[in-house]
Amino acid sequence: MDENGDLKDLIRTIPDHPKPGIMFRDISTLMLEGGAFHETIDRLADLIEGEEPDLVAGIEARGFVFASALAYRLRCGVLMMRKSGKLPGSRVSIEYALEYGTDMLEMHDDACGPGAKVVLVDDLLATGGTALAAVELLRGRGAHVDQALFVIDLPELGGAAKLREADIAPLSLVAFE
Ligand code: PRP
Ligand code: ADE
Repeated sequence: MDENGDLKDLIRTIPDHPKPGIMFRDISTLMLEGGAFHETIDRLADLIEGEEPDLVAGIEARGFVFASALAYRLRCGVLMMRKSGKLPGSRVSIEYALEYGTDMLEMHDDACGPGAKVVLVDDLLATGGTALAAVELLRGRGAHVDQALFVIDLPELGGAAKLREADIAPLSLVAFE
């Protein structure tokens, strides 16, 4: 029995988006339900109970939704990991591979001091390329990152295993095989 099956039931699956063969797990249907969204944030917070991060780092775009609500609950700051060309200040960048293409992630180079305790947050973990790129950027600025939170894990795509190899504990609420 999936203990977060109530949340899983609210995530819509759209076959063949954005490319043939991809089963797109659409979190927007869960986000539209106020009670379920609230519960999702509380359960993400429970996964890191006792931790007191300085910052939650959210990944554009869907990751921002969960990161900002979680930061509010934890009373910590939010660090934006943005797609290329969006940040106005001096920044560091990294290119990475996706399940369906490549992309670039950036953060302001002064967004966190060396030694800051940062928890990474995104809606979904697939190949792990995005999360690993974010970790590399954060660690490159001296941040301590050892936990990453996701609403959804797609275990068959191997992202959780790759994160563990990089000494990151992947923590998620629901899995789609
Ligand atoms: C999705 C998702 C994760 C990433 C996971 O974002 O929100 O960030 O893919 O894939 P990975 O584990 O294989 O790297 P997407 O790049 O589609 O961007 P969006 O949030 O802006 O829609
Ligand atoms: N990001 C990468 N793979 C995805 C999928 N299958 N569904 C939704 N977002 C994704």
